[in-house]
Amino acid sequence: MRKKFLKINILLISVALFMACGNNQTEKLTSPDGKIVLTFSLSDGTPFYSVQKNGKDVIAASKLGFMLNVGDSLCSGFKIIDVSVDSLNETWQQAWGEEIEVKNHYNGLKIGLQENSGKKRLLNIVFRVFDEGVGFCYEFPEQPNLHDFEIADELTEFALVADDSAWTIPAYKGEYYEVLWKKRPVSTRDTVTTPVTIETSDGGYILLHEAKLVDYAKMNLYPVSGTILKADLTPWSSGVKVYAKTPFSTPWRILVLADNLNQLANARLMLNLNDPSKMEDTSWIRPSKYVGIWWGMHMGKYTWAQGPKHGATTQNMKEYIDFAAVNKIPGVLVEGWNYGWDGDWVTHGDKFSFTKPYPDFDIDEIVKYANEKGVDIIGHNETGGATINYENQLDSAFAFLQSKGIHSVKTGYVNALLDKKERHSSQYGVRHYRKVIETAAKYKIMVDNHEPVMPTGLQRTYPNFMTQEGVRGQEYDAWSQDGGNPPEHTCVVPFTRGLAGPMDFTFGTFNFNNPVFPKTRVQTTLAKQLALYVVIYSPLQMASDLPENYKDKPEFEFIRMVPVDWAKTLVLDGKIGDYVVTARKDKYSGDWYLGAITDENSRLLNIRLSFLKPGKRYRAKIYKDAPDAHWKTNPYPVVIEEVEVDANSEIELNLAPGGGTAISLKEL
Ligand code: NOJ
Repeated sequence: MRKKFLKINILLISVALFMACGNNQTEKLTSPDGKIVLTFSLSDGTPFYSVQKNGKDVIAASKLGFMLNVGDSLCSGFKIIDVSVDSLNETWQQAWGEEIEVKNHYNGLKIGLQENSGKKRLLNIVFRVFDEGVGFCYEFPEQPNLHDFEIADELTEFALVADDSAWTIPAYKGEYYEVLWKKRPVSTRDTVTTPVTIETSDGGYILLHEAKLVDYAKMNLYPVSGTILKADLTPWSSGVKVYAKTPFSTPWRILVLADNLNQLANARLMLNLNDPSKMEDTSWIRPSKYVGIWWGMHMGKYTWAQGPKHGATTQNMKEYIDFAAVNKIPGVLVEGWNYGWDGDWVTHGDKFSFTKPYPDFDIDEIVKYANEKGVDIIGHNETGGATINYENQLDSAFAFLQSKGIHSVKTGYVNALLDKKERHSSQYGVRHYRKVIETAAKYKIMVDNHEPVMPTGLQRTYPNFMTQEGVRGQEYDAWSQDGGNPPEHTCVVPFTRGLAGPMDFTFGTFNFNNPVFPKTRVQTTLAKQLALYVVIYSPLQMASDLPENYKDKPEFEFIRMVPVDWAKTLVLDGKIGDYVVTARKDKYSGDWYLGAITDENSRLLNIRLSFLKPGKRYRAKIYKDAPDAHWKTNPYPVVIEEVEVDANSEIELNLAPGGGTAISLKEL
């Protein structure tokens, strides 16, 4: 690792500039490739920043600062007391991910501000400019006149220069981000949550999001005027946005500026702005696929609570373990194994015990059986949003799982509010989720967080934080009154929610009949179900259907063999909301996998395989929609064929309406 640090105290220079340019002082910072320029300016004591790419404005002068309490602003009357610059060019390796090596190359600028009068408080603004975009955060240093404080409002703005179309979801209306993303001009939206993905008129993309949300409120955005988006922090029930104590830093506000979808998907700025791993030993962390009784519950075959249809029985678990062992699927998820599900578990989540199995779930017998078969059990801690009850049991819950040799847990927070009081994305929720990840790490437990706060790259620091929901996933195809996820949805989420982190979407349905809600169903072809394993990234991927639905299905072979940990990822083609073609290279072999999906429209695409190693031959096994396939009328027919290809080959993809193609490319 090479780190250069250069600190210049430029108080005198600043005074000179001040005299030369009236009440305006500016500092510029350029990306390593020189294409992105960030300008910081202090205009009449008020801090602003702006961003240009390739000489064109992207973000016009935008405000920075805070309201600490009503009438107590920390956004004007400043002078610059310190300016320092630094830069870093390093490469680090991910424990798991969409690529192994991550390049972290930036130029940094830190502006030290002090109020001219009154309490003379200090505020630092730290900028980092990468070739991919810009990140900035605020630091409240230790100082005589600011100790414990409350943030009433963050005044950060993103003054977009054009009213381009943005893919967004509302901030406070949907439950845990489980809504459909909509494309609308930036200026016409109510408060939306980040990530916000903007399609610019020149074919590029701007992603607005945040990184390293560890002790702060989630950032949402709303158009304060025209195309100027302003930060809106999810409040506590008290109305306060953030309780803080100096020294204190905010999360990073990030802007990814990409020329195409591949750059957008491969920007690693969010991960780079999180701290390196705090975990020395990550050898026990294993990305994997899993099956479970989950879909049976959503299909009404099983119940979480005890009763005649109880799903988590010793017998059912053994059958799933057998299925997993035969098919080399490493994990079996179990939900509804513990006391607390009976009655209205959503409103009485505080009845959950995380150490007391139901009597028909013989955990010792089950883990012994799983061990013998070489299968891992994935535990489940649904909290019903009762975080106090969960935190009171957290150590014992994880010690219990660890004592049984269980190394992963899916957590859940189904309820509109946490403890009937605080929002999931408030500082309260953020602190809770982090406590769960940190405690889980102590007990060597991997976490799959459902009903989470929007991810911000914490998996770099805590590689046991595997995946999250925070998306309208496959369960909506079981019971959503609107009929299920429309075919467009999976062509949107890789470039919106997916840019915030892995998604536990849980596809893999092979039987689209729905006995519980006959008007609701998976709105894809079967081939598209396969392609989703490549297009949507998660280090834990579920094969969600009932084992009997995979029986004698040659298509299941693709799910059995598709990896979940990658050396490299490329978006080869696509248009958000219309279609996506993604190729990923297996981390442990020279093999590549390709997934192509489309919305409700059929599509004919020609894809060059130039990403393959030159001079090498590959056997391509192609799982594609049959010529007459259609998600609505004829979803099941898949044609499987094998051909030999190399880096000079071009492959024709003929995607049915709501269809897809999945291809494995094995090096010969
Ligand atoms: C909602 C989760 O998303 C789902 O996966 C889980 O089965 C139920 N809650 C019960 O915890």
